[in-house]
Amino acid sequence: MYSSKITGMGFYVPDTIVTNDDLSKIMDTNDMWIQERTGIKERRWIQKGSEDTSAVMGAKAARIAIERAGLEKEDIDFIVFATLSPDYYFPGGGVMVQDLLDMPTVGALDVRNQCSGFVYSMSVADQFIKTGMYKNILVIGAEYHSNGLDKTTRGRTVAVLFGDGAGAVVLSRNKQKDKGVLSTHLHSQGKFAKELSVTKPNIRNWIPYLMENKDDLSYYPYMDGQKVFKHAIVRFSEAIQEGLQANNLTADDIDLFIPHQANLRITQFVQRRFKLSDDQVYSNIQKYGNTTAASIPIALCEAWEKGRIKDGDLIVIAAFGSGFTWGSIVIRW
Ligand SMILES: CC(C)(COP(=O)(O)OP(=O)(O)OC[C@H]1O[C@@H](n2cnc3c(N)ncnc32)[C@H](O)[C@@H]1OP(=O)(O)O)[C@@H](O)C(=O)NCCC(=O)NCCS
Repeated sequence: MYSSKITGMGFYVPDTIVTNDDLSKIMDTNDMWIQERTGIKERRWIQKGSEDTSAVMGAKAARIAIERAGLEKEDIDFIVFATLSPDYYFPGGGVMVQDLLDMPTVGALDVRNQCSGFVYSMSVADQFIKTGMYKNILVIGAEYHSNGLDKTTRGRTVAVLFGDGAGAVVLSRNKQKDKGVLSTHLHSQGKFAKELSVTKPNIRNWIPYLMENKDDLSYYPYMDGQKVFKHAIVRFSEAIQEGLQANNLTADDIDLFIPHQANLRITQFVQRRFKLSDDQVYSNIQKYGNTTAASIPIALCEAWEKGRIKDGDLIVIAAFGSGFTWGSIVIRW
């Protein structure tokens, strides 16, 4: 049986920085409220008129990842694309990346698991490599949130949290048995589906419904923030513990914990729970906000670029989000 390892990484974020002070000019919010509750100082938002979309940003990140893997686009056997903000209702973003990168007609799969999307995508790619079916898989997380947020005071609890961006990795067949992806674990609990959701349009309430019900705001994201927070800290911890236990490891063995960048307070809670030092945790939510499926590949790539990931390091990744869904990845680098 084969195993998989990350051989290349890349990320792309739009140029435009939107600070908390910028937001306070368009809604009733302020820098102190946002920083105290979330850690976020600024985020990137696509500007009107830009060519960027989830697929376009995903393709930009993917180009960097393929080049850093020392591969050509023809070497990629499969694409897994995670987003909650696809360019179209259908088809998905994976096929658009195949086209944007002018790739051979390889398979392209979209994953709809929101903040856990990248963890789910990596798990899918890992299985394809383990079975020997594929050698090199492009795994992408990309989000274009800013155009779907309610940027008025009414939507402030959600709007201040989210940013745009994309990250990508190339997951490749691995010859070293003791390195690469050691485990992935995935979970869901659909009874909380509506606690963090966009419920319209849906197939029962399509365009004619929206035209007749212009005051229905359910096409904006809804979140019960406190419920999400309470579940997140429990599920993050469980997912990490499950990954460590499956590999006979403890928190002391972690060289770098890369959480989905949901909220700095969630990360700090988990850090305290596992008694991790600041050196063992990577956070960049301060600069990018919550970029959902893109947050882990962006953080992973940025941490690597900063020299925070070295050969032989134990990297633990965990995510929690809408669904609810959650999961973890344990990697020996
Ligand atoms: C969203 C979150 C930051 C809100 O923090 P909170 O402490 O729960 O705040 P509340 O929603 O109770 O609101 C507290 C007050 O701040 C106000 N408020 C909400 N958003 C605000 C904003 N952007 N700026 C200023 N005030 C705001 C509320 O209206 C409320 O005012 P009131 O007391 O007069 O009614 C917090 O619940 C959270 O982090 N949840 C997890 C979110 C998350 O991680 N989501 C992604 C998961 S992948």
